[in-house]
Amino acid sequence: MERVIVWYLRMSVIYFVLGVVIGFTLLLWPDEALYYIPVHVHLNLLGFMSMMIYGVGYHILPKFSGAFIHSPRIMNIQFWVANAGLIGMAVSWPFMLRGESGVPLIVFSFLSVVAAALFAYNMIKTIKPA
Ligand code: HEM
Ligand code: HEM
Repeated sequence: MERVIVWYLRMSVIYFVLGVVIGFTLLLWPDEALYYIPVHVHLNLLGFMSMMIYGVGYHILPKFSGAFIHSPRIMNIQFWVANAGLIGMAVSWPFMLRGESGVPLIVFSFLSVVAAALFAYNMIKTIKPA
């Protein structure tokens, strides 16, 4: 398994642990929950679920068509863009909800969109009839 794929999977599991711990803290401090629900949601769904799908997808899907990943370079760049985007979103979201500038959240969210687009492009180019 390629090194970066291992890291997609490792980061996914790390976001899962962070996501469920934050989910649990939502129950402990319900007054604060409002600010952290989107952090919980996106660590779990964009961090755990999507990052797992990125990693498993890159590992398995090319094999179905007996092909190689269209662009290992895009796969590597996407890893950094996706993680910068998600970590940035998780940090800036509560600030935005507390009335601070929403610009950082928009910038980091855009990175997450770019990462998703890179994945989509790379997969479309990879998946071919066997
Ligand atoms: C130990 C595990 C977890 C705990 C204790 C937990 C706890 C919570 C709590 C307290 C809320 C806020 C509910 C509210 O007041 O509206 C919430 C919302 C949510 N959680 Fe979790 N959660 C856990 C795991 C997960 C996982 C694994 C996922 C997804 C893969 C997830 C997805 C969501 C979503 C999407 C919402 C928002 C629901 C809505 O829109 O109302 N949670 N969670
Ligand atoms: C580029 C990536 C993404 C961005 C920028 C984004 C942005 C947002 C925003 C702005 C909201 C509204 C939050 C609010 O209530 O104020 C939201 C809610 C939500 N998103 Fe995302 N999202 C992204 C990816 C995803 C993905 C991949 C999933 C699921 C696989 C997802 C699941 C959800 C869910 C379940 C909610 C409702 C949560 C709640 O009730 O608070 N999002 N998202």
